[in-house]
Amino acid sequence: MILTITPNPCVDKTLFIDTFTAGTKVRAPRYTTIPGGKGTNVARVVKALGHESAALVVVGGHTGRHVVDMIEQQDGTPCLPFWVAGATRTITTVYEEAERRQTAFFEPGPDVTEAEAGALLAFAAQAAAGAGVVTFNGAVPNPALQDLYGWLIAYLQKKAPGVTTILDSYGEEFLRGLKAMPHVVKPNVEEAEALLGRPLQTLTARKEAMAYFHEHGVEMAVLSMGREGALVSDGRTCVHAVPPAVEEINPVGSGDALVAVLAVGLLEGWDLERICRWGMAAGAANAARWELGVVEPAEVEALAAQVELREI
Ligand SMILES: Nc1ncnc2c1ncn2[C@@H]1O[C@H](COP(=O)(O)OP(=O)(O)OP(=O)(O)O)[C@@H](O)[C@H]1O
Ligand SMILES: [Mg+2]
Repeated sequence: MILTITPNPCVDKTLFIDTFTAGTKVRAPRYTTIPGGKGTNVARVVKALGHESAALVVVGGHTGRHVVDMIEQQDGTPCLPFWVAGATRTITTVYEEAERRQTAFFEPGPDVTEAEAGALLAFAAQAAAGAGVVTFNGAVPNPALQDLYGWLIAYLQKKAPGVTTILDSYGEEFLRGLKAMPHVVKPNVEEAEALLGRPLQTLTARKEAMAYFHEHGVEMAVLSMGREGALVSDGRTCVHAVPPAVEEINPVGSGDALVAVLAVGLLEGWDLERICRWGMAAGAANAARWELGVVEPAEVEALAAQVELREI
């Protein structure tokens, strides 16, 4: 089973309108809501690829209830909610269909107390120890949880060393998680630049970033680069995997689709080539449609055959 851990999920609401002018009253004829916050997208893609997933989320209030209901009923994914007193955030995106432009409004996540953070560690540790792969997704809502990933990764290494850990985060929680030596990291270029504190605009600089992750004990480093694909390294071979060109509709969640393939591939013992092909293909399939983490296995398989692999 693949467990995704999302400390700061959201009600992800999108209002579809023709176009709008700031400072006016805007009516949306149509809107959608999905459970948002990275790990929920990962769980959706894992399920689409035919594997069992579960989504652990830190939730609170009516919005938290809504997130849990959507994970269970809309996505059909088993949900492990950890309840806190603060309320889960809503992210509202306004999509202007005429312009194909999205503007997103982010509410703050819930305040999590030290006591809640302590109880969460115990809850997540127990759930994670029974999984085959655990993915750590996105940012944490506040500083009380900045040690969550690092603590859980270190715990699993000690108590459940058979569990594979994949870290996809940014900022302080990414840094602290990395120090605990997860098996896999999957930053995008911007996230890796922030971590390393230097620009990664050349292939040489990006390859050096891969070496940096391996020096920190990571077994597989994946640096995703949007439509340019990704660098994928297992410490022996470094590949630049290039997805086929697709018409980009909405690339949000493509990194999560890639993480889902990393999880499935590592659980199934796929070789590096297959992981690269399917990972790029799932990201491209996600980018080619509006919905997040909604991919068809047949479509991913067809795109996977078109992925170009260049050893660098
Ligand atoms: N426009 C695109 N065309 C083809 N493939 C794409 C496109 N955008 C993304 N991908 C694929 O998806 C993978 C992950 O995308 P990206 O680097 O944008 O992740 P990300 O920034 O972590 O995204 P998110 O956090 O929103 O999920 C890329 O390595 C690439 O294979
Ligand atoms: Mg990402």
